[in-house]
Formats: sequence, structure tokens, C-alpha cells
Amino acid sequence: MKHRVLTGIKPTGKIHLGNYVGAVKPALKLAESEEYQASYFIADYHGMTKVQDAEEMRNLSRGIAAAWLALGLDPEKVTFYRQSDVPEIFELTWILSCVTPKGLLNRAHAYKAMTDGNQQAGQDIDHGVNMGIYTYPVLMASDILLFQADKVPVGKDQLQHIEIARDIAGYFNKQYGETFKLPEHFIQEQSAIVPGLDGRKMSKSYNNTIPLFEEPAKLKKLINRIKTDSSLPTEPKDPDQSVIFALYREFASPEEVNMMKERFMEGISWGEAKAELFQAINGTMAGPREKYLELIESPEKMDAILARGARKARETTSPFLAEIKKKVGIL
Ligand code: ADP
Ligand code: TRP
Repeated sequence: MKHRVLTGIKPTGKIHLGNYVGAVKPALKLAESEEYQASYFIADYHGMTKVQDAEEMRNLSRGIAAAWLALGLDPEKVTFYRQSDVPEIFELTWILSCVTPKGLLNRAHAYKAMTDGNQQAGQDIDHGVNMGIYTYPVLMASDILLFQADKVPVGKDQLQHIEIARDIAGYFNKQYGETFKLPEHFIQEQSAIVPGLDGRKMSKSYNNTIPLFEEPAKLKKLINRIKTDSSLPTEPKDPDQSVIFALYREFASPEEVNMMKERFMEGISWGEAKAELFQAINGTMAGPREKYLELIESPEKMDAILARGARKARETTSPFLAEIKKKVGIL
């Protein structure tokens, strides 16, 4: 039997180069492998812990769906759905909440970071914390356990959430008998951390991103804003210290990367290097960008794909939830 791989993507911002290189590209590669059956979903209810404007939520969710489809996700192969379209996830969330010790959630990083910050600021420790943030890990456990996922590809920051999902599975199994598989995380150790405009990790939180589907003129402008050192145009430059080179290698062929390395060592001007980087990204993304814009313009097409994905998902989640309900004495 194929291994099940599952991951959720929060619609809290526009997809940027970092998301693409660190998460989307490897996940699509995994989905192509014959070894895995992939389920990828838009974690919109998780996103709601941050995004609380209806129009923004709708646009961001559609943007994420369009991005994955434009980048090559095949909805015939991958079960691709919106979390909110699979109600069994939420029923299971409550059931799991009832076997989850509160102390486990008190220790979850995101919540703890907020309470620690409040404490330092001399405020009530729960200031600004909504219950969605607090119970976030239980919803995530439900996402994973309901699909009996073997492997969960995530960034390092999500490791603790996978551990919590395993703990919750253990508590349930102990109380009601073997039911849930213990999921494993799947971390792309070798995948690069893509630097942003200011040289720090590219992240929505730092406001230093280059959105993946930026139109060419804007893309060029953003690339021109990447920070460089003050070395002169003809001076040799160390490719390994350059954000421009780090980005270039993600979008150019191995031969092009080698050639660029030489040009750096011979002394390429930053202007020229930025122009080459623009060509590489723009060239790779021209096709997907066109598809993305097309999809954004026809949300009904995307909604139909996602609805089909949810139906496919529910063919297994619905009977499995019935089994779980029997175990707890609700059915
Ligand atoms: P952000 O930091 O912009 O809020 P998310 O936390 O939503 O991004 O990350 C979504 C996925 O993209 C995660 O799997 C994360 O590991 C990956 N990712 C985000 N930023 C980068 C980056 N700069 N380089 C590599 N991967 C990244
Ligand atoms: N919490 C994840 C993030 O912030 C998104 C997510 C929600 C997820 N449910 C999931 C990831 C289930 C993997 C499996 O990136």
C-alpha cells in the first residue's frame, strides 16, 4: 500500500519565493512519486486565527489554491481540498479535545510565545490570545489523524505540532483502543532557506518577500531592491555570500549556475547579476504566472476542483469518523 503524505497550507499571505522553494516545490515532487498518495489542503480555519476579514480570507484562499494548481499540482493524482469543506475534521477536533490535557497546549510554542511576551510587557498573560490560537494544535492533529497520514512534510517550526498530534493519538488509543496511526514529520533538511530582500529569511512576518507571481515590471523593481555590498562592478564577488546568487541557483539550470559562479568570481556588476536573476525567475515563472492569473479570474473553476477534492476526501473520512464515534459511544 502507498504511504500517505499530507500537508496543510495556511492562507495567510501571498505565496513568495521562499514558500515555493522550501515547501511547494518539494511537496509537488513528493506527490509525483509512485510511493506516495498525497493529500494537500488549504488550512483556512487555521488561517482564521490570524486573518479576520472575509474578503481577505476569500482572496488569500483562492490565491493559494491557484498557486498550487498553476505550479503543477494534478488534482486527479493529489487529493486537493479546503479544510473547511470536510466537516468530519471539526467533529473529530472536539472528540480529540476531550482526551487532550490542557497542559499540553499550554506548552505549545505559538501560544507560549504570546504569553511570555505578555508577561514581559507586564500584561495579562492571555492578552490578545483567542481560543483558535490556543486549540490550534488540536485542529492540526485532527487534520492529520483523520487521514491516517504516515508522513507530514512541514517546515522546522511545525515540528512541535506533529509531536503533539502523536501525543494526542496516543491518549486516544490508550483510552479507546488502537485507532490512530502515529504520524511522522518529513523535514527537507537539505532545502535552502531562501533569503529575503534584506538578507534575513524571506518571510511574510519580515515584510521582505518577493511574491512568486509578481508581474514582470514589479518583479524587476523588487529584485533591484535586494541589498548588496559596496564592492565595485569589476571586483570579484563571493557567490556563497550573495543573496542574488542564492536565489539564482533555485531558478536556473545547473550549467547556468556554474557559469554564473564563474562570472561572480571574475567580477560581475550587481546590476548585471540582478538582471540575470530577473531573467531566470521571470523565464521560469512566465507559464505558471499566466495559469495563475487565469485561475484567479475564474474562481468557479477552482471551487469545482476543490469541491471534487473534498468529496474524494470524505469518502474515507466519513466512514472513519463513524468508526471513531462508535468507539467513544456516540453512535
Ligand atoms: P512565512 O514565513 O512567510 O509566514 P509560512 O510560515 O507560511 O511562511 O511557511 C509556509 C511554508 O514555506 C513552510 O513549509 C516553510 O518552511 C516554507 N518557507 C517559508 N519561508 C521560507 C524561506 N525563506 N525559505 C525556505 N522555505 C520557506
Ligand atoms: N500549521 C501549519 C503551518 O502553519 C499548517 C497546517 C495546518 C498543517 N494543518 C496541517 C501542516 C496539517 C501539516 C499538516 O504551516
